[in-house]
Amino acid sequence: MKIPTLLLTAILPIAALAQPGEATYKAVCAACHTSGVANAPKLGDAKKWGPLIREGQAVLTAHGYVGIRGMPAKGGKPDLSVEDFADAVAYMVNQSGGKWQSPDAKTLAAIRTEIDKREKAIAAKARK
Ligand code: HEC
Repeated sequence: MKIPTLLLTAILPIAALAQPGEATYKAVCAACHTSGVANAPKLGDAKKWGPLIREGQAVLTAHGYVGIRGMPAKGGKPDLSVEDFADAVAYMVNQSGGKWQSPDAKTLAAIRTEIDKREKAIAAKARK
């Protein structure tokens, strides 16, 4: 089937602009990370994000996913997958001075290992 050129020129720019993680960011994370609720690092604040980006993709994504201080686990959306959460983190990083890809299988495995570690550490603390 021949797709009309007019249709293609209408669709392609939208596909090129949409980045993985942007939709999740807008739906789940923006409520806090756009205005900086409770001192959340704001989207685009390279000064705040710099030290976080240096923690590395696996560690930072895992800490956010498990929750840390004012940051609720999974951004407060209990059914959010690790993949979607990781894309939202990468989206924020890329708007804030960093350059992260949507995690590949190896990075995802590293993120899951960090999540496990973090959850065990929290559970051990709770038992004390
Ligand atoms: C209810 C508000 C809220 C929502 C919603 C929220 N965050 Fe956060 N987030 C915070 C706050 C507050 C901090 C700062 C935590 C601190 O350092 O005290 C934070 C910190 C972070 C950090 C840095 C973690 C670290 O190690 O310091 C990441 C990454 C992050 N958020 C990702 C996300 C993503 C991705 C989403 C959406 C899926 C999201 N957040 C949704 C409030 C929120």
